[in-house]
Amino acid sequence: VIWSFYPKLLLGRRVLITCGSTREYIDPVRFISNDSSGEMGFSLARAARWLGAEVKVIAGHTTAKEPPEVEIERVVSSEDMLKAVLREFEESDIVIMNAAVADYKPKEAKKGKIKKQSSLTLELEKTTDILAELGRRKKHQMLVGFALESENLLENAMEKLKRKNLDLIVANPVDVMGAVHHRGYLIDPEGYKEFEFKTKLESAEFILKTISEFISS
Ligand code: CTP
Ligand code: CA
Repeated sequence: VIWSFYPKLLLGRRVLITCGSTREYIDPVRFISNDSSGEMGFSLARAARWLGAEVKVIAGHTTAKEPPEVEIERVVSSEDMLKAVLREFEESDIVIMNAAVADYKPKEAKKGKIKKQSSLTLELEKTTDILAELGRRKKHQMLVGFALESENLLENAMEKLKRKNLDLIVANPVDVMGAVHHRGYLIDPEGYKEFEFKTKLESAEFILKTISEFISS
């Protein structure tokens, strides 16, 4: 296989990656969620593995093909994901939050299926911002986030990097969802690099190589 030729820049490092979308159930058969295939997260996991890292993936709902070379733990809600991430956090060297975590969840999940009515009002509350929570708990870990923006991409992503106490953030315009080319900015507290690749896997390799430069410097 080709990947045996990769320089093992992340040998022995523990990398935790979240991906896919969380589901916040309203009743037994309905939920609030985001659009996310999991392809980026799985690509990051493969690239990290190829660089020699020990990789653990915590995945919500995904439609992309699972990479056979990494361990994947499945979760459903943002609360499940928070618990799973916190359990792994201490032992991790690098955490990449690629999951599309729902920003809101129903205040209460109904036990029975909600019957059709002329109109329906749902009360929602904010979910915990997992990444911001990790930013508060951060010690030796390198913390990498994503930002999906429809406007002011650079500015908004830089603001998230600071507010969530991250070491690196990948900023993608919303039009990368399902697009052929994958582009964006890789931003750290000192500056940024623009990138554009044909596939998410190439972007993932670029991101992981940048991460390994960080780790070794
Ligand atoms: N994130 C998280 N927990 C949440 C929401 C987001 O960990 N409850 C993480 C995402 O995985 C991503 C980063 O925060 O790495 C940014 O997500 P994004 O949706 O772009 O930003 P938000 O902070 O949620 O703000 P907004 O949606 O208003 O832009
Ligand atoms: Ca959000």
